[in-house]
Amino acid sequence: MNAHGTKLSIIGAGAVGTAVAYASLIRGVARTIALMDIDTKKVEAEVLDLSHGLEFVPRTDIIGGDTMDVVADSDVVVFTAGAKQKPGQSRLELAEATIGLTRTILPKAVEVAPNAVFIMVTNPVDIVTSAALKISGLPNNQLFGSGTVLDSSRLRFLIAKHAGVAVQNVHAYIVGEHGDSEIPLWSSASIGGVPVTDWDALPGHGAFDEEVRDRIAHEVVNAAYKIIEGKGATNYAIGLAATRIVEAVLKNEHRVLPVSTLATGVEGLDDVCLSLPSLVDRSGCARRLDVSVDDAERAGLMKSAQTLREMQARFGL
Ligand code: LAC
Repeated sequence: MNAHGTKLSIIGAGAVGTAVAYASLIRGVARTIALMDIDTKKVEAEVLDLSHGLEFVPRTDIIGGDTMDVVADSDVVVFTAGAKQKPGQSRLELAEATIGLTRTILPKAVEVAPNAVFIMVTNPVDIVTSAALKISGLPNNQLFGSGTVLDSSRLRFLIAKHAGVAVQNVHAYIVGEHGDSEIPLWSSASIGGVPVTDWDALPGHGAFDEEVRDRIAHEVVNAAYKIIEGKGATNYAIGLAATRIVEAVLKNEHRVLPVSTLATGVEGLDDVCLSLPSLVDRSGCARRLDVSVDDAERAGLMKSAQTLREMQARFGL
């Protein structure tokens, strides 16, 4: 926090970092938003462009720079610096480049903002979160990843569209890896309190038999590939998802979000970072919820954890 109030810093002024800045600005989540990127011209241009819209949003100061000084005394730091996923490239294939970058940048950020809650967004976010916890030495609550918050939003969007209801009335989670091995928790998914599996189709819309559920799950897992193929990157929805997490921290919302954390205490999962519904508040990721899963979902979660464990092992994490 600075003299004016809460401070959000975003490391990386690329498509994702600037989407987080833009969404945070519109939602007025922090009194100061700082953008940091080594590309001086880029970060200065982004700060200028955002600043020219300040009249139209809640009172916010926008600052930026190419050194970590600009991140000093942040309350939340969102980490988006990293290699871009290319068309057809999996998130896990980005691991080596982004872990190296994290090793270089993160310690400097922790040094200038030791009390900040760190939200890792860079992909592969689960592996990067695991590496960042080890590199920073921060407690599990203070550093976590954006995980499957975005994937769960994609799942809710597709459920809402198929059912013909408002997405705000859909509760459903994607858990595990933010990536190809992620799984939907259909057993706990609901629309306005009605289990999705018991949903009766509204006129002109559908119900959720196994074929529909499998189609929706496939669309969620492959969403990013489709968007990257078409426009080169995903940015708007991840920007909004990350901003939702920032808000839950800065406004101490005690919001349930499937963020990526070290699954300590969960049998068979406690050595990897993956996403399970968790309570997010001013302390960061305060606690994981003991969400019920059926046998097939548990098996999928274990498979996802194994995928991440094998990747972590390749980098000595
Ligand atoms: C996506 C990126 C953020 O899923 O991994 O769009």
